[in-house]
Amino acid sequence: MTGPAVSAEGISKRFGATVALDGVDFDVAYGEIHAVVGENGAGKSTLIRILGGVHRPDRGVIRLDGEECHFASPHDAIAAGIVTIPQDPRLVPALSIAENVALGDLPVRRLGPLAMVDRARMRAEAREVLAQLDFDPDPRARVASLGFAERQLVAIAKALRRRCRVFILDEPTAALERREIARLFSVLARMKRQGTAVIYISHQLDEVVAIADRCTVLRDGRVTALAYRGAFAVNDLVGAMTGRPAQEATTAAFPAGEPLLEAQPDGAATVRVREREVVGLAGLLGSGADRMIRGLFGAASEPAIVAVRGDTRRLASPADAIAVGIGMVPGERALGLVMNQSVRDNILLPNLDAFARNGWLDRDASDRLVAEVMELVDIRPRRPELKASALSGGNQQKVILAKWLARRVAVLLLDEPTQGIDVAAKAQIHALIRDVVARGGGALIHSSDLGELARLCDRVLAVRQGRIAATLERPASLDEPELRNAIGG
Ligand SMILES: Nc1ncnc2c1ncn2[C@@H]1O[C@H](COP(=O)(O)OP(=O)(O)OP(=O)(O)O)[C@@H](O)[C@H]1O
Ligand SMILES: [Mg+2]
Repeated sequence: MTGPAVSAEGISKRFGATVALDGVDFDVAYGEIHAVVGENGAGKSTLIRILGGVHRPDRGVIRLDGEECHFASPHDAIAAGIVTIPQDPRLVPALSIAENVALGDLPVRRLGPLAMVDRARMRAEAREVLAQLDFDPDPRARVASLGFAERQLVAIAKALRRRCRVFILDEPTAALERREIARLFSVLARMKRQGTAVIYISHQLDEVVAIADRCTVLRDGRVTALAYRGAFAVNDLVGAMTGRPAQEATTAAFPAGEPLLEAQPDGAATVRVREREVVGLAGLLGSGADRMIRGLFGAASEPAIVAVRGDTRRLASPADAIAVGIGMVPGERALGLVMNQSVRDNILLPNLDAFARNGWLDRDASDRLVAEVMELVDIRPRRPELKASALSGGNQQKVILAKWLARRVAVLLLDEPTQGIDVAAKAQIHALIRDVVARGGGALIHSSDLGELARLCDRVLAVRQGRIAATLERPASLDEPELRNAIGG
């Protein structure tokens, strides 16, 4: 087959006053990996939602194998062989891993006139696709019991199980560690050899340089660069994304003060976060580092016992944690946001007590605060009345951060705080976390991005098999290779 597998010609899409795409041309060939990069809100997800039948373009044409096509729904696109792993994959937490992988396309066994779900086959198939990703859970386990990165692997497996001609991944590696990313890349390389067309969206520009045959850069809904492998490096991409040269933020350390939070999440070693300190938790997938941080927010099945400024507390729920001055930026955006409410209400939600005047909300003061934090974390567009669901993925992540920055918490827990955040905004968010601690707070961060932990933290605790196995201090032993070594990666 010659010519592109799919092409988009002159695509424009508006949402109310927002022009998400403006005359975009894009195509991908069979056996090619074509990356799409751009700042938060540049239009990447909108483009692939149009290719995947979620949105209809206002102008422009989509062609599949040269034939103009109109998808009325995602089902049409899937039937045509276009399979997408969306930026926020929806899984059903109450169902098992195997059921989630098969959902929408259940294997059926026929018994005369009866058709029933073939559970044994369903489990075997789930095991097989998950094995391609080196992930070997019990397929009967409920998705609710999995961490964020493990859920992402389930979503990838679900897409891999479908036969496809065009495979689209919108930020699949946001919470994955190096080993899983390497597995995913070898799966993609195999699909490419078999002739699948792959569209790959990522903010990890080094990944893009490593695997893409071609890269399209979007800025404010327009294509600003299109380059072939070998002709782009990370700095060129950043320049085309932002219109500015790349710059790396430096973080200054502050002298630490009194202990704010102390706990023994593994029953032995102590996690201690002091005033003006950023502490990291690092671990491979399955190490329990992500569970540890959720546990400290009172979100695990067992209550957490923590000392807050020296007072021992029992946290049986997130509400208990919030009441003693602990905030949490969760890894899963769906947990941190009420999608069908406005950005304004999402920011105010944990802060209502501060604006209550005899049972009424002080509208002026709360509007001022919302405007202030939206400016501070640079949420775009700057429109507090927009529903959270109308923001791009990276901007949704900034809203979650904003709502806790608006409240002066003593300790902020963060699980993958910069997943899905573009390079420039990532530096901004690191600076914000540093600001929180400079004002006397403390932060405890779990991230699969070891470079991020090495740059941002004063100290990182390496977690292996549910236990804190080592502590790395800045500056003596805190760098990325040491950290990787300490977590066993
Ligand atoms: N359903 C919607 N309603 C209103 N506006 C929307 C909707 N979906 C996207 N937008 C807007 O369109 C623009 C492009 O968003 P899009 O999600 O495509 O960005 P993106 O490049 O994927 O960003 P990110 O890296 O943050 O995921 C943004 O300004 C966003 O707010
Ligand atoms: Mg997006």
